[in-house]
Amino acid sequence: MSKVYLCTAIPYVNGNPHIGHAMDYLLADVYARFRCGLGDDVRLQVGTDEHGNKVFSTASKNGLSVEAYAAENSKKFQDFVNKLNISYTDTIRTTDPDHVRRCQEIWRQLEPHIYAADYDGWYCEGCERFVTQKEYDENNGICPDHQKPYEKLTEKNYYLRIADFKDNIRTQIENNKMQILPEFRKQEVLKLLEDAPDISISRPRKQLSWGVSVPGDDDQVMYVWLDALSNYITILGYPDQDISEWWPANAQFVGKDILRFHTITWPAILLGLGLPLPQRIVSHGHVLADGQKMSKSIGNVVDPVEVIEKHGLDAFRYFFLRHVDTFADSDFTWEKFEDSYNHELADDLGNLIQRLATLCQKNKIHGRTWKSDLAPEYLQLMGDFEFSKAFDYAWHKVQDLNKAIDMAKPWELAKNGEVEKVRQVLDELVNGLLEVAELLTPFLPGTAGKIIELFQTQEVISPLETPMFPKR
Ligand code: MSP
Repeated sequence: MSKVYLCTAIPYVNGNPHIGHAMDYLLADVYARFRCGLGDDVRLQVGTDEHGNKVFSTASKNGLSVEAYAAENSKKFQDFVNKLNISYTDTIRTTDPDHVRRCQEIWRQLEPHIYAADYDGWYCEGCERFVTQKEYDENNGICPDHQKPYEKLTEKNYYLRIADFKDNIRTQIENNKMQILPEFRKQEVLKLLEDAPDISISRPRKQLSWGVSVPGDDDQVMYVWLDALSNYITILGYPDQDISEWWPANAQFVGKDILRFHTITWPAILLGLGLPLPQRIVSHGHVLADGQKMSKSIGNVVDPVEVIEKHGLDAFRYFFLRHVDTFADSDFTWEKFEDSYNHELADDLGNLIQRLATLCQKNKIHGRTWKSDLAPEYLQLMGDFEFSKAFDYAWHKVQDLNKAIDMAKPWELAKNGEVEKVRQVLDELVNGLLEVAELLTPFLPGTAGKIIELFQTQEVISPLETPMFPKR
């Protein structure tokens, strides 16, 4: 049994959760359930990133105190995680007093690598990121992600000396000691690392009041990313407790937009603290809505609660885990979502369950416990974090079972009085479906659980009164 620690990026609390926010949680949850199924001891962290100017200014615009605003939105994310049935074990808010105190301790430990200097350059509040002159020029002074002009900053900052760690980080990435998935992202990071500057890790208090105070300098507040990244270890109790039982993380799940923070800034912090780097960073693509980035100004933000309420949680999990590619950008449209529900969940799986259960009832087939070894191909895909492909593998088995029923025609065998043959065919099909349920467990835990209950516990298997995925 191994200890497996999994981490998700902690969202800013400057708005409601949208469907894109589901990706970190779902991917981490699939892997957590998969490893639990293999008998491993899994810990999964979730939380909210509450400091920084972005949160502060949205709270002010809404006429609320930043504390109240952050608390209200943090709760919305927590509710969202629960609604998605994420198997998390730990949750953190960066405003938790323990986190704040531990961050200050982390700062003290990093001091040999920190120096003060004047910053004269650019900043994007949307990204909460310092921007180099080169990037400013390449993007003509406008952030491509937020469509807002970069702000000019001239101020005193503390810096973390990235130069102290660059070679070490590069070697660990190149040797896959910290593996970056997918491979093409690894190449992007190695390129970024070539001219990665030292990182500013504080802001003057008059520019940023909502954050963790820099120890020993009341005029400065910690840069929000230093505070946010530290959550992955403060939640384990660092530096008050020995975290070596869980750290390094087995995998951290992040969107492509925040990969640089997790592959340059975060490793630099860890090396400065004398801690090992996470074993892998899994970087997913973005979910688009109708082919475009979701944004409040375009008005195409899709509310996940609406999607879940429409067809249920497993329909949501199904779409985002099978039709949203694990690594590439993918598009959400209501049409695609409804199609996948009606033609795949209802026609392929829902139908199979009802059809088979009805045949079992007619032919008095008993429920049973059935466990098989997971296929090497599936294990390999899951181990490579190729979740949408592993899900395809499981779905092909669903389709194969439908074909097998059509080919064997057990109803005709029954009509001809071939009782033994019918029993044999249905036994094989039921065992096949229970095997599929095992493959589906990490993806659709609710549905897989119901299949197992239906075909395992009943004396004589009988269909559900209402089908699992009624056609809409
Ligand atoms: N607060 C930072 C993360 C700090 S981690 C120490 C942040 N927050 S965020 O709210 O902007 O994003 C949270 C996560 O959601 C990130 O992994 C981000 O990539 C992901 N997504 C936000 N929009 C997304 C899509 N449209 N599609 C998929 N994931 C996206 O960044």
